[in-house]
Amino acid sequence: MSFRVALIVLSDRAASGERADECIPVMKDRLGGAYSIVRELVLADDAAALQAEIIELADARAADLILTSGGTGLGPRDRTPQATAAVIDYEVPGMAQAMRSASIAKTKTAMLSRALAGVRDRTLIVNLPGSPRAVAETLDVVVPVLPHALELLADRVVDG
Ligand code: MTE
Repeated sequence: MSFRVALIVLSDRAASGERADECIPVMKDRLGGAYSIVRELVLADDAAALQAEIIELADARAADLILTSGGTGLGPRDRTPQATAAVIDYEVPGMAQAMRSASIAKTKTAMLSRALAGVRDRTLIVNLPGSPRAVAETLDVVVPVLPHALELLADRVVDG
């Protein structure tokens, strides 16, 4: 059975059509064929809209994984981590730490990403930064661990 994933980009400029989104194609490429995509969305940097999506997907058990991209930095419109924190039951800090420490080795500005990972009900939510390169670099860190994380959340691990 493949895991169901929702891909959500937070970007005022991509949402308004000022520029094309390049992150969703990178997310799909890095995830590979083992996931079924249940939702693809490009939203403005709007905390309420993101919170509503996470709540709807998680509470309906419609997605095993939600990947967000963008809005993790220090700009006045960057609200993804706050919005995520407001709707998760608990954080998975090691995932965010691993992404940051691997990224800082390549790009000093990676320390500016406030991305977090956490769980609501049985759904794992992982924030990724907003540039296509950053999406590729951070997904490469967590993708190998995702199947085990999602099996645990689904309570399908027999021998953990
Ligand atoms: N992480 C990786 N792996 N590679 C990158 O190029 N760019 C950073 C950072 N994380 C980057 C990265 C930059 S420049 C910023 S400002 C922060 O993520 C926040 O990005 P965001 O606001 O688009 O989410």
